[in-house]
Amino acid sequence: MKKVLVGVLMSMGIIGTPAVMAEGNPEAGKALTAVCAACHGADGNSLVATFPKLAGQQEGYLLKQLKDIKSGARKVTEMTGLLDNLTDQNLSDIAAYFASQKGSIGEASPELVELGEKIYRAGNSETGVPACMACHGPAGKGLGSAAFPAVSGQHATYTQNQLNKFQKQERNNDPAAIMRDIAIKMNYREIEAVSSYIQGLY
Ligand code: HEC
Ligand code: HEC
Repeated sequence: MKKVLVGVLMSMGIIGTPAVMAEGNPEAGKALTAVCAACHGADGNSLVATFPKLAGQQEGYLLKQLKDIKSGARKVTEMTGLLDNLTDQNLSDIAAYFASQKGSIGEASPELVELGEKIYRAGNSETGVPACMACHGPAGKGLGSAAFPAVSGQHATYTQNQLNKFQKQERNNDPAAIMRDIAIKMNYREIEAVSSYIQGLY
């Protein structure tokens, strides 16, 4: 299923292998992240539920977000100006550093697991919500070659915020509106449940 879907998207030109990605150097990247630690944690395991964990995230996805945040294609007001003086090589190094760290895992709320797992693994065929697993992987690790992000262990509040932003088109840097088209088909209960489920997924 995953292979088929990814193949279809690639043949449609919706996603491509992030071609010739500059090799990131994690050691050089670490030296640039002191300013990030206050919000994202020194090793990328943020302790604040509205700040995303970056540890263990796919390198290609991290690099894309850093470029999008720097250019303003993705608006993160908390990070205004922080990336302005960093070169593409600096951003690659930072992406390599956080990707090399081990991500921490949280817990799902027991009462939300059933619905959350159903959405994650099977989607909702009545409303056309696809299984998240198809792109984010059975264990939530994502897929580096297609820049599909890892979601495993991410703070439920952050995930829920992103799904809400995709739904309202406030976050619109997803290629071919992949996530906006999915989020718009989801109701509040489904978003809450799948976000909680993902927090405990590994
Ligand atoms: C003042 C707090 C703050 C600081 C400092 C900060 N960030 Fe962020 N960062 C955020 C917030 C808030 C978001 C996204 C929130 C949202 O979209 O809801 C974010 C998002 C990100 C993302 C996207 C993650 C994802 O899963 O899509 C990356 C990558 C990132 N930050 C890297 C960095 C790096 C590298 C630094 C240091 C150079 C840094 N941040 C400094 C608050 C901060
Ligand atoms: C067809 C592939 C595909 C499917 C299916 C899919 N996603 Fe995504 N998702 C993506 C891509 C690609 C991105 C990265 C967008 C970008 O580059 O900004 C993403 C980004 C996200 C993000 C933001 C991650 C972050 O760190 O900010 C969340 C949260 C997310 N997806 C949740 C879900 C959930 C929940 C489902 C199931 C209801 C789902 N996705 C189904 C492809 C998919």
